[in-house]
Amino acid sequence: MQKITKAIIPVAGLGTRVLPASKSIPKEMLPVVDKPVIQYVIEEAISAGIKEIILVTRSGKASIEDHFDCHYELESELARKGKTAALAQVQDILPSDVSLTAVRQHQALGLGHAVLCAESQIGDQDFAVLLPDMLIHSAAQDQCDLADMVAAYEQSGVGQIMVEPVPEHQVDRYGIVDCAGVTVAAGSAADIIRMVEKPSIEEAPSNLSINGRYLLPGSIMQLLKTTAPGAGGEIQLTDALAAYLEQGRLQAFNMRGKTYDCGNKAGYLEANVVYGLQHPETAGALKAFLQTLTL
Ligand code: G1P
Repeated sequence: MQKITKAIIPVAGLGTRVLPASKSIPKEMLPVVDKPVIQYVIEEAISAGIKEIILVTRSGKASIEDHFDCHYELESELARKGKTAALAQVQDILPSDVSLTAVRQHQALGLGHAVLCAESQIGDQDFAVLLPDMLIHSAAQDQCDLADMVAAYEQSGVGQIMVEPVPEHQVDRYGIVDCAGVTVAAGSAADIIRMVEKPSIEEAPSNLSINGRYLLPGSIMQLLKTTAPGAGGEIQLTDALAAYLEQGRLQAFNMRGKTYDCGNKAGYLEANVVYGLQHPETAGALKAFLQTLTL
């Protein structure tokens, strides 16, 4: 059984759902409380044992790489002033045993195409994909859904796709999986027999949506090369995974926590409230303020 140590994080999107904020700042750099969204996602990958992070990026997004790099001037200034807590916050973003590299996606041809752009970094190894809009909030503090999904992968040897039930009227926003009507308990996995990208309510086989966390067999790269444009005229990762199901197995792992989609304005605000209510520096004041609101 291979261990999954590499994760692809596609960050080349235009962020049109959070304009105008994302006009000159990458949407992945928008803060949730005091950290950019992408930092939470990379911390999640690291908690699940990922050692090599491959960003699929484009021009205008260099601030993402800078955020995970050393900032010599800032660090020496904080050290000189004895601001050790602040220094630790900017120094320890990426542990020394984790590497971060970037490849470019020159054309916006879809998520499947973005993943394929990292092919030379992945080789034929199994790999993870984490979509940076989606913040996975754990049900408990010491729990990590992605780490649990890695354990399910290591135990079964079967590729895993994290899913979450969504209200019926939202199925057309996501990839939706068909587990043949099996009830997938939170924290467990079941075989997928079919998956559809952004189906209408009538076409949707279930309300289990793909929430942007995947553990995939290396052979998906070959399938992506022959995947024709699908929903929205884009090369869809879901379509390559659907093709894989004709020859192999994939499982849906039902998360225990909750996803906040920071790629849209309401989800981004919800994430700020939820994370703000947990942050030691903001929890008290934010709670008191929310209680003053008459809704
Ligand atoms: C992508 C995937 C979709 C998944 C979603 C989660 O869609 O194609 O299957 O449900 O991410 O955010 P996108 O949001 O890029 O349109």
